[in-house]
Amino acid sequence: MLWIVITTLWLFLPAYTPNNFAVLLGGGKPLDLGKKFIDGKRIFGDGKTFRGFFAGFFGGIITGLIQYRIESFFGFKFFTSLNFNSAITLFLLLSTGSLAGDVTGSFIKRRIGLERGERAILLDQLDFLIAAILLSSLHEDFHRLYTPEIIVIAILITPILHVLTNFIAYLLRFKDVPW
Ligand code: CTP
Ligand code: MG
Repeated sequence: MLWIVITTLWLFLPAYTPNNFAVLLGGGKPLDLGKKFIDGKRIFGDGKTFRGFFAGFFGGIITGLIQYRIESFFGFKFFTSLNFNSAITLFLLLSTGSLAGDVTGSFIKRRIGLERGERAILLDQLDFLIAAILLSSLHEDFHRLYTPEIIVIAILITPILHVLTNFIAYLLRFKDVPW
């Protein structure tokens, strides 16, 4: 059981870290340029910035590349069961999916009238993961690496992990609110 949880974390790590990189390095110009949607509310809000997006995008890919190196070094095979280019494509899909899901989550939050930083249980914790799964399922090797069991475990443990890491980010004052 512990083993499959660790495997799940390993396989989804390039989808987890983009959010952390965005929190650490984000800020500045918002992705929606301050513009409002037809309902008069912000499209995404000030919490989704260009810098956060790019930091997250490269952060996720770098995470994957480091994992690839670690696997080659220690000789275990998850991402290294793919050739290098195919692995990079997977990291790109995981990272982009994660960020796209996060932005989509904010879009939904604004539409239901939640302000930037307000809490949306499950949406905050799973938006990025669901989008990362959907986008990376386009990869030809996705279903071989990410079995239904791995996906179910990811959906179950991610909210716990997300709450925990956000609380740490809040304690370290990287985030204004602990969610
Ligand atoms: N962040 C960023 N750019 C992104 C994603 C996140 O700059 N694309 C930074 C912002 O400083 C943001 C913080 O990371 O405030 C925390 O991210 P998150 O909790 O996703 O955003 P919220 O501020 O809670 O906004 P929302 O209500 O839209 O989720
Ligand atoms: Mg938030």
